[in-house]
Amino acid sequence: MKIELLSTSDKLKPADLFIAGCFEDEKSFKALASLEPEFAKSAELAVKNKRFTGKKGESLSSFNPRYQKASEILLEGLGPKSKFTLCQFRETVAKLVQAARSRKVKCVRILFETFLGGKVDSSSGIEALSETAILASYTFDKYKSKSKKDNQNGHPEKVEALEILISKKAAEKNLGKVINFARTVAAGTITARNLINEPGNIINPARLVEEARKIAREKKLRLSVLGPSELKRLKMGGILGVNQGSVTPPALIILEYGASHARRGTVCLVGKGVTFDTGGISIKPAADMEKMKYDKAGACTVIAAMGVLADLKLPLHVVALAPTVENMPSKNPQRPGDIIRMFNGKSVEVINTDAEGRLILGDALAYSAKYKPKALIDLATLTGMCAYTFGEKAIGLMGNDKSLLDRVKRAGEETGERCWELPMWDDYKETIKGHHSDLLNTGGRYAGTITAAKFLEEFVPEKTPWAHLDIAGTAWCDSPRPDCPKGATGVGVRLLANLLRNWR
Ligand code: BES
Ligand code: MN
Ligand code: ZN
Repeated sequence: MKIELLSTSDKLKPADLFIAGCFEDEKSFKALASLEPEFAKSAELAVKNKRFTGKKGESLSSFNPRYQKASEILLEGLGPKSKFTLCQFRETVAKLVQAARSRKVKCVRILFETFLGGKVDSSSGIEALSETAILASYTFDKYKSKSKKDNQNGHPEKVEALEILISKKAAEKNLGKVINFARTVAAGTITARNLINEPGNIINPARLVEEARKIAREKKLRLSVLGPSELKRLKMGGILGVNQGSVTPPALIILEYGASHARRGTVCLVGKGVTFDTGGISIKPAADMEKMKYDKAGACTVIAAMGVLADLKLPLHVVALAPTVENMPSKNPQRPGDIIRMFNGKSVEVINTDAEGRLILGDALAYSAKYKPKALIDLATLTGMCAYTFGEKAIGLMGNDKSLLDRVKRAGEETGERCWELPMWDDYKETIKGHHSDLLNTGGRYAGTITAAKFLEEFVPEKTPWAHLDIAGTAWCDSPRPDCPKGATGVGVRLLANLLRNWR
């Protein structure tokens, strides 16, 4: 999508659709009046007659051949000005992009200053606008015939150009940079969505390695891959055990950005990369099992985020570790009751082969000790229970370091990828204590999200600040949203970019 910043004083060709915002109880439309007096007059009349009040979700649109700047003008209600948030602005933008797509409009022009209010200022607003406009245009239709490319959000058409009209007053020097940041982060989110939406017959662990290699080459990241023989040599019993039933080899993908830096230190990202999770011998029910291609979301997210860091040229040293496996029943799969030894030496009895994520993450988390990270952050579609708890609305956040968790929360608030913290009391460890082994890989049904995190904690290197993001509920949306068609959401890329852009 082409995104252009234009001045309200520029001479412009008419746009296909011209959009302005209107807060509740706004009575006059000065900015609009100077561009399109006839529409502004009719809008004022509509307000006077209470046909349009600027409430959230209301809109007023008019098509008129006499308009100078557009064939159609759309005035969108925004609710009370003082309560306007970035989240609401993003929602509104996504809705407007869908409105444009349903009209088969190619060029959208937006009168930006009419959306300024509450928490939305020039810089944060332009960023949210650009990012959301790109993400709301996303479709995953590469496997559809041309004639059938029509049922994602109902609209196959894409908006090709977004023109942001900005008055001299609102213009700031760095807005070009802001758009660039938004564009980079949105592109990273789309990379993650694309990878996650690919089915299990296309992306297996070997193919995920190739995808990481492509990104590494393009973004100039260092890549190393630990394959089956290295994993055996290193005794990564978790990764090997889970993949035992698969005919394709497992891997630990390691991407590195930047040079290690004594003062700033290293950040390690870890992402769960189960390219398909059948549950193994503890097999999942058939209903919804097809969705388990998104069990690689954590890995795809950290891989895509690494590309974003490189594009932004952030002054950091970041290492991403993505263990990738396929969890299958077969002739020679892992059995319930098997006792395996993990990379850090702890033994685990595999009570349920469907609790596989924590086994591969345990090895990767322990291996991160090699980089002596100042912060360790993992993302994983770890527990169905997390989706039951929060639905698609929040990431389950757990960890061992208040200051890191607070920073993650803040990044979540700012990007709209909200996190909610769950307790990590040691009482929760009791149910994963082993009888014939050090640990069990499940602690029963109660508090499943927390006991999974307590299991991971056993593999976090000593004295390492760690945050665990359970994205089981947020990484996938079951029905289309204005900002994302049904499928992978790419959640986490924006949060990580926001967290690391101001890293100290
Ligand atoms: N990948 C699943 C978790 C999951 C389920 C993510 C549904 C998204 C939607 C994970 O590997 C798993 O199967 N977890 C089990 C753990 C249980 C066996 C202790 C679960 O949540 O049921
Ligand atoms: Mn599972
Ligand atoms: Zn899983």
